[in-house]
Amino acid sequence: MSQQPYVIDTLISAKQIAARVEQLSDDIHTEFTNTDKLIVVGLLRGSFVFIADIVRELNLPVEVDFLEASSYGNSTESSREVRILKDLRGEIAGRDVLVVEDIVDTGHTLTQVVKLLEAKGPRKLKTIALLDKPSRREVDIKADWTGFEIPDEFVVGYGIDYAQRNRNLPYIGKVRFTDEA
Ligand code: IMP
Ligand code: MG
Repeated sequence: MSQQPYVIDTLISAKQIAARVEQLSDDIHTEFTNTDKLIVVGLLRGSFVFIADIVRELNLPVEVDFLEASSYGNSTESSREVRILKDLRGEIAGRDVLVVEDIVDTGHTLTQVVKLLEAKGPRKLKTIALLDKPSRREVDIKADWTGFEIPDEFVVGYGIDYAQRNRNLPYIGKVRFTDEA
C-alpha cells in the first residue's frame, strides 16, 4: 500500500496519559487488592507501552502474558474477522486476569478475546482499554476501565501504530493526511 503523507496532531499529551495511568492503577489495585496473583494480559502489539506503565504502578503480585489477535491490516478500516495469532503462554484457569487493550473501536476484538479467555475459566476477568471510540461501536461491549474516550479519529503513538509506524511516540496523536506538493 502506498503511503499518503500525513502529519500527527497531539490529542493526549504524555503528561495527561501518565496522570490517567496513575488513577487507573489505583482502581485496579482496589479491585484486585487481595489477589494471590494477577495475570495481566496485553493484547499485542498496541498495548505494549500501556501495559508496561500499568504494571509498574501496581504493587501486587503480577505476571505478564500476551495475546495477539488480528484486527487491522495496513489500513485504517477495521476487519470483522478476529483471529488469534498468538495465544497465551500460561494458564489462567482459576486466576485473576486483567486484559489490557489499546483501543476499543468496533468492539469485535475485545468481545472475541474476552469470550476466548472466559472459556478458560478464570476466577475473575476484568478489562482495561487506554482509548475508547464509542461512536464506532458495532458490538455492545465496554471495557471495565477506560483511559480516554476519543472521537472517530485515527490515532497513533504510545504503542499504537499506523501501518506499524509511530508506536514510539510518547503521546497520542491523530493522523491528518496532507496533500502532496
Ligand atoms: P476493534 O475490533 O474494531 O474494536 O478494533 C480494535 C483494534 O483496532 C485496536 O486494538 C487497534 O489495534 C485497532 N485500532 C482501532 N482504532 C485504531 C486507531 O485509531 N489507530 C490504530 N489502531 C486502531
Ligand atoms: Mg490492537
